[in-house]
Amino acid sequence: MSKKITDNITWVGKTDWELKMFHGNELSTRRGSSYNAYLLRGASKTVLLDTVWGPYDREFVARLAQEIDLAKIDAIVMQHNESDHSGALSELLRAIPGTPVYCTAKGEAILRGLYHQDWNFVKVKTGDKLDLGGGQSLTFIEAPMLHWPDTMFSYYDGCGGILFSNDGFGQHFASESLFNDEVDAAQMMEEAEKYFANILAPFCPMVMRKVNEILAMNLPLKLICPSHGVIWRRDPESIVKKYLEWANAYAKDQITIVYDTMWNSTRLMAEAIARGIGAAAPGTTVKIFNAAKEDKNDILTEIFHSKAILVGSPTINNGFSYAIAGLLEMAKGMKLKKKSAAAFGSYGWSGEAAKQISALLAEAGFAVVDEGIRTPWCPDSAALAACEEYGRSFVEKL
Ligand code: FEO
Repeated sequence: MSKKITDNITWVGKTDWELKMFHGNELSTRRGSSYNAYLLRGASKTVLLDTVWGPYDREFVARLAQEIDLAKIDAIVMQHNESDHSGALSELLRAIPGTPVYCTAKGEAILRGLYHQDWNFVKVKTGDKLDLGGGQSLTFIEAPMLHWPDTMFSYYDGCGGILFSNDGFGQHFASESLFNDEVDAAQMMEEAEKYFANILAPFCPMVMRKVNEILAMNLPLKLICPSHGVIWRRDPESIVKKYLEWANAYAKDQITIVYDTMWNSTRLMAEAIARGIGAAAPGTTVKIFNAAKEDKNDILTEIFHSKAILVGSPTINNGFSYAIAGLLEMAKGMKLKKKSAAAFGSYGWSGEAAKQISALLAEAGFAVVDEGIRTPWCPDSAALAACEEYGRSFVEKL
């Protein structure tokens, strides 16, 4: 169902209550998501901004046809061409072939690569305007690597100023309400941070530059309309400021301990280290996660806002656990800055895990504070006391 945002802007997207995984199985979306598309009716031009994911293409085009005679759409603006936004473009352009598709040069290359069609592309760059009539226009702002090279934002100077930001400022958060002031703010902000941590964190320098560039334009801003989740209507500047905070080596006073375990020895070490940290730094939040049992993207979000992490695994076949290996690979991709780390783990005979994990933590950009701690077999009371002492010493090294 279409939903009115302003007198001349209608949400024509798709709310996906079922979505539990995104980017294949890379990203969990426990609260679903939405693919937001917007129909903007100017005085002389009607523009569609973005489409929806492919599985909903027919539903999207059918509902759009109920909202408007498709032949009256003068232009389609594709702000970013990942499949969750471009997936219904083929179906739509079968109905209205020849409609101009406005996108960046990289956007055209991606659309050609994904769909192999010679559509009526109109390449745009920062500052280019699409005249909507009545003295109003849509201005394009390239935002490369937020989070793909093709990404751009679009600023509408009507209705008090509206920024269409595509993935930027989005959340995987399904809701019947369209606006941030009508949903559970705590849940929604959890999803906004998870989205940033898991999708935008690798591009923090670009986020800082682009957000500062937009702030310097001093544009009136009534709404921010992202392509996922709710629209920022109440205090839209708040998410802009939050992005600056998140993009600047964000860390709370939290230490996160992540481990895997086979027969509980490494778990006992994790809990003893946590006790030591708690004793040395009672004000610091300490959280413990079993990487094999907890949601990987929730753990990565915890790592994103931690000042330090400890990663543990038993030694298995001269290496370490599958769950820890996967998590470290994902953490490396996040390009996190100014976070400390160390490794730990139990072993029976060879005992390489902690050393290998330390090397991967360093490769992922963490400041590894020492060689970590290892315990043979199952830790006895002396070994647990050593782990507690290690937790205390870890705090002192931060
Ligand atoms: Fe929501 Fe990068 O696509």
